[in-house]
Amino acid sequence: MCGIVGYIGNKKATPILLESTKKLEYRGYDSVGMCTIGDNLSILKGAGRIDDVNNRLNFQSLEGNLGISHTRWATHGGVTDFNAHPHSDCNNTIAVVHNGIIENYSELRKDLKEKGHEFKSETDTEVITHLIEELLNNGMGFRDAVIEASKQLEGLFAFIAINNNENGKIIACKHKCPLVLGIGSNENFVASDVVSFLNHTNKVVFLDDNEIAEITKDDFQVFNILGKPVTKEISTINWSSEEAKKSGYPHFMIKEINEQKETIERAINRDIKEVKKVAKMINDAYGIFFVACGTSYHACLSAAYIFSSITKKHVNVFLASEFPNFSHFLTKNTLMFTISQSGETADVLEAVRVAKEKGVKIISLVNVMGSSLMRMSDYSLLLNAGPEICVLATKSFTSQLALLYLLAYACAGKYEEGKEKLKEVGKKVKNVLTKKNIKKIRNLAKMLKDMNDIYLIGRGLSYSTTLEGALKLKEVSYIHAEGLAGGELKHGTLALIERGTPCIAIVPNNGSKKDVLNNAMEIKSRGGYIIGIANEDDEIFDYSIIIPEVEMHPILMIIPLQLLAYYLAVERGCDPDKPRNLAKSVTVK
Ligand code: F6R
Repeated sequence: MCGIVGYIGNKKATPILLESTKKLEYRGYDSVGMCTIGDNLSILKGAGRIDDVNNRLNFQSLEGNLGISHTRWATHGGVTDFNAHPHSDCNNTIAVVHNGIIENYSELRKDLKEKGHEFKSETDTEVITHLIEELLNNGMGFRDAVIEASKQLEGLFAFIAINNNENGKIIACKHKCPLVLGIGSNENFVASDVVSFLNHTNKVVFLDDNEIAEITKDDFQVFNILGKPVTKEISTINWSSEEAKKSGYPHFMIKEINEQKETIERAINRDIKEVKKVAKMINDAYGIFFVACGTSYHACLSAAYIFSSITKKHVNVFLASEFPNFSHFLTKNTLMFTISQSGETADVLEAVRVAKEKGVKIISLVNVMGSSLMRMSDYSLLLNAGPEICVLATKSFTSQLALLYLLAYACAGKYEEGKEKLKEVGKKVKNVLTKKNIKKIRNLAKMLKDMNDIYLIGRGLSYSTTLEGALKLKEVSYIHAEGLAGGELKHGTLALIERGTPCIAIVPNNGSKKDVLNNAMEIKSRGGYIIGIANEDDEIFDYSIIIPEVEMHPILMIIPLQLLAYYLAVERGCDPDKPRNLAKSVTVK
């Protein structure tokens, strides 16, 4: 994970680096650091969040029009000032920021120590700096030293290096972690994510694996691992910098929950040809595997129910990290359908690599244009949800569901009908986000804020709603939450219900209603407190949130749970945008 940025131009580097690094804080926030080249190469870094470290160290004091910066999600080495990036070489001439993991770092470190290099941190990253130093000492130029170093590194990495002795350039290298160039006028950028520099330019160059970029203020050149120049295309990103701002909301999470009034419609308003093309690929496939992690996995699980009921098609659903165990079922006729907001999740990319080795066709639903997953796929559909900055996935989930419904209807030859129904669902989001509902959910959060456990039950498609709801509640409020298929309660978890245990029942008006209400009754009889998220009130509920009735209920039913998670975080004094220990883009396995 971690976010890395490089800037070179006519302006002072630190304000730009500070702003750009803040935009990447969602990728990790254990420590932060910055290095610029003014009269000399100077580094400031420390453990803690960006604003706190900046108040302590004053990044603005660094001079120069060229610099790199880093926000860390710790992997190798504790959260300390020393382990914060950038890391420099023995002579403080080279500095490196890195995202990813260097798997062979201990062998390299031993070898470099034997050659006299002195290490100041416990990180895997520091080997990159000393390795480049060693190669420079052996007479190589800066770019060639970076190319050679990248050949010797194993693992997943993207790094940016600067050198006080060649101070008109930045060298950046990408291997299995994201890195994108931002092309400005008299200034250029390189970063883990386009949102980092979107305020300055929307012209970007996506680097591919094993590519090395040499960036000056007026130009850039890209090379492959053999040092041969590669021609790259400049793309234009259609996200606006405004979308990456809080725009008056106290947190990105609540802003992004509210944006669902528009994002669902954006997900389905697309060229009919691309939907029909994917639908044909699904219909022609022999064996379909839906693969993803976390929230995107819950969308896959919903897809199993959606495709079963609408298309009468069986699809297999796997957690990406478990998928390689099932690769022997893959053939050239298999279709792999991957879902990922970021398009950079390491487990998903690994699953895709495994599948591609067997000749499997890959379709992806991604939000981030130009992401690694998009470039590895045979065909991609963009979610068009705009940047999702909060670490928790909210609007991307409902966009994924909307697009899955549209595809299922298209596979069944009923594209128009599906689209019309989805449009209606999109319009009804505002009827969920009413003042009345928000007040009720805030009150509920006040009631539940000191609870240790919350259980959620649902049946059929609502089962995946319970899993996604539980994930939202626990990751942001740190209250243990568990989603269950109602039928599973009496197979074990019912033993945990005591007087006052809160249980949220997801009750759409459909065939599952009677059974899920019976399950809720089983809980209530044992003293449980029943919160209904339902299309109509029921005497079983001790508390209820009433949601408009639609066929595609998972899209609306998740919204009160997103809001409850948000208000629980606020009530408990947790940061809704940056939950502890988590990062948005999980680029390590
Ligand atoms: C939960 C959440 C994570 C992500 C997961 C996959 O709120 O955001 O569980 O869903 O890390 O991320 P993507 O969709 O980027 O592959």
